[in-house]
Amino acid sequence: MPVNKNTLPKIGLLYLDHVLRFFDKSNFKGWPNKIETVVYHWGNDKDRFIKEVRQKKIDVLIGNIPATAYETFREIARELPEVQFMPSLDTQFSNKSKENVTHFCEKYNLPVPKTRIFYDRRKGKRFLNNATYPKIIKRSYGPSNYGGYYVHKVDSPEEALELIDKKKYYPIYVQDFVPMKADIRVMLVGHKPVCAFWRRPPEGEWLTNTSQGGSMDYSNVPAEALEIAVRASKAANAEFWACDVAVSYDDEYTILECATAFAAFPYIRDWIGQYLMWKLSKGQMPCPHIPMYNWEELGKMSSSVLRTMRHIHFSRYTSYSTDTGETFTRMGEDNYPIVNTRTTHEEEWPSEVWNFQDNYPRTESIAAPTDNLKVMQAQDLGLEEAAPVQEQE
Ligand SMILES: Nc1ncnc2c1ncn2[C@@H]1O[C@H](COP(=O)(O)OP(=O)(O)O)[C@@H](O)[C@H]1O
Ligand SMILES: [Mg+2]
Repeated sequence: MPVNKNTLPKIGLLYLDHVLRFFDKSNFKGWPNKIETVVYHWGNDKDRFIKEVRQKKIDVLIGNIPATAYETFREIARELPEVQFMPSLDTQFSNKSKENVTHFCEKYNLPVPKTRIFYDRRKGKRFLNNATYPKIIKRSYGPSNYGGYYVHKVDSPEEALELIDKKKYYPIYVQDFVPMKADIRVMLVGHKPVCAFWRRPPEGEWLTNTSQGGSMDYSNVPAEALEIAVRASKAANAEFWACDVAVSYDDEYTILECATAFAAFPYIRDWIGQYLMWKLSKGQMPCPHIPMYNWEELGKMSSSVLRTMRHIHFSRYTSYSTDTGETFTRMGEDNYPIVNTRTTHEEEWPSEVWNFQDNYPRTESIAAPTDNLKVMQAQDLGLEEAAPVQEQE
């Protein structure tokens, strides 16, 4: 059935100066209409940006918003009620900061390491004085994805207080230290896991970030990790999502990070584009068929090959019969069909309530990383880590 071009919404890709682009037009292969782009230039650019979106008659604005622009874009979204942001600003709530991830997980009863967040430094210090150790202290907000650079393990109150005084992180974000075998990155499209891998720390170390010398592998990702990631994706109502799940030595699973922004191979971005076209065309364009555990097979290839592969397509059934009856997926199991996300109208995480960082009166004057218009680093996105750069077609 040919696609009726007139029934399709007008798509715009949302870009920001100095920020790596998650999507390229080539991820939307087959979309029959022109795809617009709108670039946010930072600084005092809100009104011009809004004007451009209106002028281009964009119905759906697709893209990830980095932490430092998040609050500005919540304002922009309010001024453009007729424009659908995809993912929605509510879905992107977790992109802004680690404290938001914590609030999100707590609301939806998703397992996280025990975490305390202090906007009042005196209370934070009192807590650190009486806490049990080791603890993890992190910078909650700011250009992220330095692969553990802003994550510190402290073993005593003295060490914790010294760190707090030196780093001036605001708020104070403290977490129980989870002795873990490894963590697992799960990527999802339409709430279906499409890629998952272990990230293991180097021998004798605790940081699992692969940019810090850890290793990754794709085999036997436990079902528990996939299940938690699916629950988080559904709670966030995310068209696409990634979740880092820690696996402790006693096999407890907790979420460390989750976001719509993450480093993904280009073929995964193609799948996301295909999913979004299916959704936006109301089924006129096909939903991608992505077999479970495909990563166990694709992961056998070198990452330099995976970085260049595009538009990987799996057919649903083989057109010829096989005598072994072998299926592609592990035991043929697939408990996670790709599903549509909900369209929401009310704000779930309004900034008046949830932007503690700017709303909370300071008790000590400290340099706070709250200037959300300031241009931060190029990789100021959620779960990026040595992001595979997208080839443009
Ligand atoms: N509570 C924790 N206990 C033990 N290790 C942790 C904990 N939180 C984070 N880590 C380790 O630090 C790494 C980086 O932490 P993360 O919260 O993902 O920050 P980022 O990736 O932004 O630097 C994790 O991948 C993990 O290896
Ligand atoms: Mg991380």
